[in-house]
Amino acid sequence: MDMVLAKPADARRIAVMSRQFVERGLPGWSWNVARVTGRIRDPESVVVTARVAAGIAGAAIMHFAESSAHLSLLVVVPEHRRCGIGRRLVEWLEASARVAGTFVVSLEVRAANLAARSFYRKLGYRELVCLPRYYNGIETAVRMSRDLRCCLQDAT
Ligand SMILES: CC(C)(COP(=O)(O)OP(=O)(O)OC[C@H]1O[C@@H](n2cnc3c(N)ncnc32)[C@H](O)[C@@H]1OP(=O)(O)O)[C@@H](O)C(=O)NCCC(=O)NCCS
Repeated sequence: MDMVLAKPADARRIAVMSRQFVERGLPGWSWNVARVTGRIRDPESVVVTARVAAGIAGAAIMHFAESSAHLSLLVVVPEHRRCGIGRRLVEWLEASARVAGTFVVSLEVRAANLAARSFYRKLGYRELVCLPRYYNGIETAVRMSRDLRCCLQDAT
């Protein structure tokens, strides 16, 4: 498995993965092809893919602001889950954030997505607040955050 920066030609695949596995059941398509393409071209964002022989098995998008970074999207296709790809994608982006001098990473996850909440907690993220009607005015999000200066033992 290789970690490779996304190219504009990858945008459709990433957007479809988001629609299928992250945004499933929500009205509208937030991470559509145009938006993913914009992030791939955005100098303040990083879009990374996990590639296997068959193609893209996972992808993640991080946006860097002055004092914090935001994990905007993370998805691994079902047949490659529980193999460490999600962890590697997040750790790869966290390493980029450290290099950029950014030590706080935040994200939002659908409150009903208990698997992803467990995943992020395992990686050292803390649940901060519930955000009612965050998604399309109908679905609650949980905001989570990790201070990368915390010792790594917190995440085990
Ligand atoms: C959440 C997601 C990215 C995890 O990716 P993954 O590659 O399967 O995760 P990893 O294999 O790196 O898991 C690392 C650890 O997180 C925890 N974890 C992962 N998936 C979990 C699940 N479904 N339930 C509980 N804990 C889980 C485990 O502790 C796991 O370690 P282990 O397998 O040794 O027990 C993936 O399930 C996914 O794409 N889901 C659909 C989209 C989504 O929910 N995205 C995130 C919200 S934006």
